Amino acid sequence: MAKVREPISEFLRDKVILLTGGTGSFGRHFTKVLLDRFDFKALRIFSRDELKQFEMRAQLSNTDRIRFLIGDVRDPGRLSRAMEGVDVVVHAAAMKQVPACEYNPFEAVKTNILGAQHVIDASIDHQVRRVIALSTDKAVSPANLYGATKHCAEKIFVQGNSYAGGRATRFSCVRYGNVLGSRGSVVPLFLKQRQSGVLTVTDESMTRFWLTLEQAVQFVLGRMTQMYGGEIFVPRLPSMKITDLAKAIAPECAIECVGIRPGEKLHESMIAEDESRHTLEYEDLFTIMPEYAEWGRQNGRDGKPLRDGFCYRSDTNDWWMSVEELRVMLGCQVGEGDCGTHSVQDGAYASNDSLRPAVVG
Ligand SMILES: NC(=O)c1ccc[n+]([C@@H]2O[C@H](COP(=O)([O-])OP(=O)(O)OC[C@H]3O[C@@H](n4cnc5c(N)ncnc54)[C@H](OP(=O)(O)O)[C@@H]3O)[C@@H](O)[C@H]2O)c1
Repeated sequence: MAKVREPISEFLRDKVILLTGGTGSFGRHFTKVLLDRFDFKALRIFSRDELKQFEMRAQLSNTDRIRFLIGDVRDPGRLSRAMEGVDVVVHAAAMKQVPACEYNPFEAVKTNILGAQHVIDASIDHQVRRVIALSTDKAVSPANLYGATKHCAEKIFVQGNSYAGGRATRFSCVRYGNVLGSRGSVVPLFLKQRQSGVLTVTDESMTRFWLTLEQAVQFVLGRMTQMYGGEIFVPRLPSMKITDLAKAIAPECAIECVGIRPGEKLHESMIAEDESRHTLEYEDLFTIMPEYAEWGRQNGRDGKPLRDGFCYRSDTNDWWMSVEELRVMLGCQVGEGDCGTHSVQDGAYASNDSLRPAVVG
């Protein structure tokens, strides 16, 4: 297991946390987990759309420690104001739909790259102690602009530690695969298509890394007490075939192949071969260490180097989810017609977090 510096419950006590993109799939579940399970001083939700904030507020039972801030990560002044008195930042705000990023490339760059720079600048100016940015396997050898912008965001977050100079602000990233049931993911699409009797997949051989929202949130929380700055943390995750996901959700349906989409990969990578040379392996995760760590590398002495030529890909992974395990992960009662219909979108579905190995901190 990767070493944890202090229990997360102690770390969070009395902390003020800023969560950009707090009304998204990750943000809503992160907020719920914090409210249900942890003591903390305040959580600031930072996002643009007032309706999403209104709806989120209405769903929460207790909002005493939650502050809803309207703001855009493209606006450095607003971010700076929001960052006053903050101890920890989780940066989840992003444009993440591949076609939208391709069609509106300047907008994707502004939100995902310039927005990341603004988060870094404001965090340094306000001496925020720990900043974690969410990234994706699509940032590895990117095949589309979404992945390319997240690749840049990772680079500038890692190097943000150099900009901090003598200040205590430290930046790290977490990089993971597809989140089951997040907004715009294939699960809500399959649930919708289920009624028509036909599920569409782009290619039958396609594979992906998958995790639940619960696992994503736990992974991020765990890294808060582990990070020293400059790491990209990658959880060990299972792979699954897209056709198995279709079978798990709607075994009675036919599967129609509609062809791979522009910018789509058949298989995803979470660690590229060239990154594996500076990556350390643990039982539950990998840590990609910074290559230019002028701010002083303090961690990683307990990890194991990877073998030459290692790359972590969804098709060559040694851990696969069966259709049955997928059903458990989705909380599906297949055949009874209630395959997570009420809750998959808000991430409140059952998840089997005992699946090995734990990706929790
Ligand atoms: N979902 C996945 O499968 C997955 C996998 C790997 C990594 N990730 C990463 O995880 C993060 C969160 O993903 P998610 O699934 O929670 O996304 P999501 O559901 O689409 O939520 C995105 C959030 O960002 C906010 N946002 C968008 N543009 C913004 C801007 N310019 N300024 C401020 N807020 C902005 C949105 O609210 P407003 O529209 O109201 O501003 C929303 O709260 C993203 O960085 C994504 O790249 C996701």
